[in-house]
Amino acid sequence: MSLWIFKNFLKKSECAEMSEWAENAAKQNLLGLGVHGINPVSYGLQTNLRLTSRNSFPEQLQKFPDIVYKVRQAIEKKVGIENLKHSWQGGHEGIIVNYCMPGGDLYEHYDPMEDYFTTTPLTHCLRLNIVTQMPEKGGVLHVNGHPVHDLEEGDLHGYVASLYPHGVTKVEGKKNRVCWMFGYQLPNHSDDYERWSGRPKETNKDNI
Ligand SMILES: [Fe+2]
Repeated sequence: MSLWIFKNFLKKSECAEMSEWAENAAKQNLLGLGVHGINPVSYGLQTNLRLTSRNSFPEQLQKFPDIVYKVRQAIEKKVGIENLKHSWQGGHEGIIVNYCMPGGDLYEHYDPMEDYFTTTPLTHCLRLNIVTQMPEKGGVLHVNGHPVHDLEEGDLHGYVASLYPHGVTKVEGKKNRVCWMFGYQLPNHSDDYERWSGRPKETNKDNI
């Protein structure tokens, strides 16, 4: 399986609190520019229609609000991944918030693989995400070539982002799309890899 969905993971009030934080951060110019690229002409260009904390976590904030860490703990308990290390490649403490305005999208891409220790081997990157604010129209997640039309606000969803290409179609209407992403290192020789990727684990640890 390339995509996991756990319906109704967050309450409306929790979604609202996390989305409001992102709205405020965007208003204060505390998030970085995203990269645009569904249209080949604009591939690789920065866009101000999608903002992200992936590459630039604002120093003045120091950390995300408490609710974000509580939600992460709840995710780890729910899906049984307390043993996995947090992703360190992109984001702050393995957490990224993506803020997509009308007209913005997320180009199709793979996330990079990560160092497991300070040396090789590299590991895959599992992401468990929650859209805390859905747009009125558009903003549809695609994973491994399949549009995910039944994804609703507050649903927890997960996929191996370094293994399966993913992107989001253009956001339409007036509401911004807010997505919180929680990243984990997923060694390719682990049972967790098998479980989340739907592929057999590798026996040779050096062979990704
Ligand atoms: Fe990604």
